[in-house]
Amino acid sequence: MKALVLAGGSGTRLRPFSYSMPKQLIPIANTPVLVHVLDAVRELGVTEVGVIVGSRGPEIEAVLGDGSRFGVRITYIAQDAPRGLAHTVVIARDFLGDDDFVMYLGDNMLPDGVVSTAEEFTRHRPAAQVVVHKVADPRSFGVAELGPDGEVLRLVEKPQQPRSDLALIGVYFFTPAIHEAVAAIEPSARGELEITDAIQWLVSSGADVRASRYEGYWKDTGKVEDVLECNSHLLDGLTARVDGHVDAGSVLVGRVVVEAGARVVRSRVEGPAIIGAGTVLQDSHIGPHTSIGRDCLVTDSRLEGSIALDEASVTGVRGLRNSLIGRAASVGTTGRGTDHHCLVVGDHTRVEVAA
Ligand code: TTP
Repeated sequence: MKALVLAGGSGTRLRPFSYSMPKQLIPIANTPVLVHVLDAVRELGVTEVGVIVGSRGPEIEAVLGDGSRFGVRITYIAQDAPRGLAHTVVIARDFLGDDDFVMYLGDNMLPDGVVSTAEEFTRHRPAAQVVVHKVADPRSFGVAELGPDGEVLRLVEKPQQPRSDLALIGVYFFTPAIHEAVAAIEPSARGELEITDAIQWLVSSGADVRASRYEGYWKDTGKVEDVLECNSHLLDGLTARVDGHVDAGSVLVGRVVVEAGARVVRSRVEGPAIIGAGTVLQDSHIGPHTSIGRDCLVTDSRLEGSIALDEASVTGVRGLRNSLIGRAASVGTTGRGTDHHCLVVGDHTRVEVAA
């Protein structure tokens, strides 16, 4: 079996971060989402991986390289524009050949793994096997209606009146039967070749299409709130490790990782939390549920439930919560005795100050 990992797309929901980096490289517990995805693919025993990239391909290649660091072999496949999930199957035809494959959305996190679904797929080899997850409001998802034995009777994209609460999530298993389906469908109203249409085409033509329920933790990291929530979830599974320096005036509480070269000075870090390599914390209180990237500087500040990306600096700000701070961004104060805010806010940025 091969894997097709989708790391193109436009990432509009993750602006402003997606202006300066592909959203699939956003770090969750200080590791890019795409690296978590490659780990999940390798866990299935799959080592031949095609990675779909759009205009930000070079940044993704710079991080993943040929894949050998992650135990896989990567072939990059360029997509000229986000023309839909089924379009990625069309352009990956040469790479996929006549092999079965798992299609994995490069911004989706399923940390509990899909090994049992892969085994089920390999055992029965239906034309397609989708992964479904119970969601509170199915109206914004592709929704599967299932028969008694897990066979898919119908798929409906974003139904107004959903007949099931089982949403398709970011992992799909296919035999080569999918190639006829993606060639047969037309672009949807939003102009994309939809994978749900291709799978529905298989169902309508009488092919065996099955669904497996994923009961574990799932997150589409396409929005800031979801990135923060997923970060908290992954940090909950952290194992404490101190490779950096923690001075005598500092306290680490619970599961805290201090990476090599990081320095914690006169500070309190409440786990779960990660302090990235080369970062300096001074006179600050960090955590719980906080990831600080590499080479950041946090001075005289208080951060909780937040992520700071590499080289960010936070100085003198005591009430940061549920915040995502971009690469090399700086958050500070206007100085003692002042009573105004001073903001340099990028496009599509959101700022919320205490009322
Ligand atoms: P989405 O998150 O559905 O699409 P998007 O990246 O365009 O996001 P937004 O709605 O915020 O603008 O895509 C799911 C994954 O598939 C994501 O990793 C991007 C990738 N993708 C492609 O590689 N090619 C495509 O044509 C599309 C639509 C998505």
